[in-house]
Amino acid sequence: MNITGNTILITGGTSGIGRALAEAFHRLGNRVIIAGRRQPLIDEITAKHEGMVGLQLDVDDPASLSSAVAHIRSRFPELNVLIANAGISRSEDLAADHWTASDAEAIVRTNILGVLHLTAAFLPLLKRNPDATIIATSSALAFVPRADFPTYCASKAFLHSWLTSLRHQLRKIPVEVLELSPPYVQTELTGAAQASDPRAMPLDAFIEEVIEMLRQGDHPGGEILLARDQPRRRAERDGTYDSIFAAMNPS
Ligand SMILES: NC(=O)c1ccc[n+]([C@@H]2O[C@H](COP(=O)([O-])OP(=O)(O)OC[C@H]3O[C@@H](n4cnc5c(N)ncnc54)[C@H](OP(=O)(O)O)[C@@H]3O)[C@@H](O)[C@H]2O)c1
Repeated sequence: MNITGNTILITGGTSGIGRALAEAFHRLGNRVIIAGRRQPLIDEITAKHEGMVGLQLDVDDPASLSSAVAHIRSRFPELNVLIANAGISRSEDLAADHWTASDAEAIVRTNILGVLHLTAAFLPLLKRNPDATIIATSSALAFVPRADFPTYCASKAFLHSWLTSLRHQLRKIPVEVLELSPPYVQTELTGAAQASDPRAMPLDAFIEEVIEMLRQGDHPGGEILLARDQPRRRAERDGTYDSIFAAMNPS
């Protein structure tokens, strides 16, 4: 992917990784459209960045998605990069009598179906434009799960597999498919405490590494994965899966 001169739609652009990526791409000379549900944040962010565009979008809502597609088709038909980054995370205690599948359902709807619906909606447009790229945000937890976030980790494992198939099916069509698998990063994904958790990677440092990997085309197999996460990615084939799982999920 070229890192400048694109027209980029970023879902989850109102906070965390999506917002920081949007700001980095904006600085690099791209036309950036941020999407999310929180209009006040969209207004605040676009006011700070001249030329950045905001779009209210709930990826869980088919009506919201179809009006976003119509808007982009008419105002930004040159759209050539989709970053499907919106996601939610919730811990679940599957052993508790009060557990229901409602959080799981919400996670599947946003993290899985949201990405599928976005791809279906925008792929026809992307196919027509030069240097087209789809990036979806998965997670390093796709490869070895944290058991207290069971559906979240499974949703990212789903994305990893699905993106592999999408990349293969598009191999004769010039649309690059990239999977961004962040480590634990300082955002508010699981609540305010995560944003200052010293165990999490600072957001700026993460974005800097991602942009550098994109600049250098350093994403073998379409996977944007930091060096520190390679052991988790290779755990099954290295025979280290059980020990890494045990270290991540103390009994
Ligand atoms: N931070 C980490 O440690 C980490 C690690 C691995 C992967 N990730 C992934 O990175 C992505 C971004 O997360 P983050 O860490 O940056 O957390 P975040 O700050 O909570 O960002 C999540 C974003 O998703 C948007 N979103 C959620 N539900 C949506 C919906 N139904 N429709 C549209 N937008 C929606 C939110 O915007 P609105 O509320 O305005 O809609 C928000 O901008 C997620 O896919 C997450 O799973 C994060």
